[in-house]
Amino acid sequence: MPSKISRLILKKKNKSKIVCLTAYSKNIAEEVDKYTDLVLVGDSLGSVLYNFDTTRKVNLSMMIEHSKSVRKGVKKSLMIVDMPFNTYKNKLQALKNCKKIIKETKCDGVKLEGGSKIKDIIKHLVNNKIPVMGHIGITPQSQRGRFRYKGKTEKEKKNLLKDSKILEEAGVFAIVLECIEKKLSKKITETIGIPTIGIGSSKFCDGQILVLDDLLGLTNSKIKFVKKYANFKINIRNAVKKFGSDVKRGSYPSLKHSY
Ligand code: KIV
Repeated sequence: MPSKISRLILKKKNKSKIVCLTAYSKNIAEEVDKYTDLVLVGDSLGSVLYNFDTTRKVNLSMMIEHSKSVRKGVKKSLMIVDMPFNTYKNKLQALKNCKKIIKETKCDGVKLEGGSKIKDIIKHLVNNKIPVMGHIGITPQSQRGRFRYKGKTEKEKKNLLKDSKILEEAGVFAIVLECIEKKLSKKITETIGIPTIGIGSSKFCDGQILVLDDLLGLTNSKIKFVKKYANFKINIRNAVKKFGSDVKRGSYPSLKHSY
């Protein structure tokens, strides 16, 4: 098992929290990498960067180009890339596309959305030495209709716990739990031997992930679990405003900025 993955698993054993964030390009990845254990090139880039109404519109080449850029910035963290919608419909297609992503981007592994339905595909990838991260709860590639957290009903609870065990058995090295009710997240985290990475799934997970642009205040996200640690929208606005007024009154470029 690659050492960066063993380190994550050790962190779970030592009860040391795992820090994860998304990145979609090099300059940002370089800064994120300094304080994270895992950097995810998420297909959330579809909504965040391209204003798509669904991550289903993200394709393999978009993921590859952004991941190549991120690779240049990530040195110490584990770098994982989301497999986009419709790129892992069966074992052969999944393996071919995962190999392509890993070969072209030099990432450390991939993330696939889904539980027991994709267990055979995951087993096939793991048997072929592809490090795989799971993702259950809200799975945006298959999400339809209104947003609702998962683990509300007994049936949902049973299925999510079962899915987490099945994914562990299939060989994933960690599982993202998205918007899962806190007692269930705790139960899943205590039941399985691999790390759980929460997003909207309470402090009981072994680690946490957020979409960086949400955390920076670059998006208009009003989602309950998003905490804004900065207000980059205002910073950008102020910088652009200042540039505009400098240009208009001729104070930029000054001699200092001229050849
Ligand atoms: O696409 C993404 O960014 C994700 C994380 C938010 C978990 O899947």
